[in-house]
Parts: sequence; C-alpha cells; structure tokens
Amino acid sequence: MSIKDLIENRRSIRRYEHKQVETSVLHELLQLSAGLCPHPQRLAGTRFLLANEQDTKSRLSRGMTDAFSVTKLGKWLPDKLLEATYNRFMEIPGHLIVITEQEDAYIAEACYMMQSLQLLAWERGIGMLWDTDELLYSPKLLDALSLTQNERMLGIIHYGYFNKTPRPRKRTPAAKRWTVYSAAE
Ligand SMILES: Cc1cc2nc3c(=O)[nH]c(=O)nc-3n(C[C@H](O)[C@H](O)[C@H](O)COP(=O)(O)O)c2cc1C
Repeated sequence: MSIKDLIENRRSIRRYEHKQVETSVLHELLQLSAGLCPHPQRLAGTRFLLANEQDTKSRLSRGMTDAFSVTKLGKWLPDKLLEATYNRFMEIPGHLIVITEQEDAYIAEACYMMQSLQLLAWERGIGMLWDTDELLYSPKLLDALSLTQNERMLGIIHYGYFNKTPRPRKRTPAAKRWTVYSAAE
C-alpha cells in the first residue's frame, strides 16, 4: 500500500471483529509510530494505559459509566443508555488510554504519534477510533486513572481488527483553504 493510498483510505473504525490484537503487534506499532515523530524526545511526557482483557476492560468501562452517571449531563441519561455504552465498550477488543503532560509541545508530539499509529495500524488491518467524547472526561474517572495535576488525557484509542470499511468521507479540497499571501497592501 502506498503512503498516498494509506492516507486517502484510512477511516475511523467503530465496529471490530471479536479477535484480540497481539500485544507484540501493539508494541511494534507504538515503537514505529514513536519513531516517525519529528521530535521523539518530546514523547518523554507521554504514557499509555492499556485495557484489553475482560476484567480490565470491565473496570475501565464501568469506571466510565459510573463516573459519567453522576455528572450534570449524565444524571439525566437513562440507565439503559449507560448500560448500552458499557456493553459497547466491552465488545471492543482493546482500549489504549493516551496520557501526556500539559505542555503544548508534548501534546503536539503525542498527537503526531497518534495519527501515525492509526495509519500504521490500518496497514496491518487494524482499525482505530480516537475517542474524545465528553463521557471520558469526568473528574471521577480521571482521578481513577491516577492522572497527575500536570497530565492530560488525549483521549482513548479504541482498536481491533475489522472487516467492514465505512464509505469514504467527502474531504474539503485543499484549494478551498488556500490564500496567496500578498505583501503589498
Ligand atoms: C483528536 C480526535 C478526536 C476524536 N474524537 C472522536 C469522538 O469523541 N467521537 C467519535 O465518534 N469520533 C472521534 N474522532 C474521530 C473523528 O470523528 C473521525 O476521525 C472523523 O469522522 C473523520 O473520519 P475518518 O477518521 O474516517 O477520516 C476523533 C478524531 C480525532 C482526530
């Protein structure tokens, strides 16, 4: 697959096969994507928490729904919806929580790594969704994840093998976001 094809065809994947992604494959993908970063030393402030077994996924998913259910918005959600969210998270083969230090340069570097990770995973038939839903950011959950004062969660990467690719999205043509800078005024 050419880099052009990879960039053009990669999509966010929300439905996965019920098949584990081997830890060695994950390690390899993380290693490669870190290596692609322009300033890898700025990844010193980044760490990952992995939940890919029934008990750890359950703790994370339950932690999320419990923490969200006591928030202003979550209080109004029916239990059925929270339970459906729990079940949906349990069906996903793995969740990678991305945590980085609260500094722009560290955050930018980690975002770069996440995009490369998604592209490299795609090449191996592994789909991902970078999730930053409000549900993931309740203070109670962040507390349970032991985030320090100086850390921020960049989101959770849900991942797994997939066999159905969503239809291509319409992209904004680059020319529409292009202005020629004129020095004369
Ligand atoms: C930083 C970031 C955060 C995202 N957060 C969410 C999210 O919270 N929920 C979600 O459904 N998709 C999320 N996405 C996925 C985007 O919605 C998705 O990438 C977009 O629909 C473009 O589709 P594509 O990735 O298939 O090109 C996120 C993507 C990025 C890069």
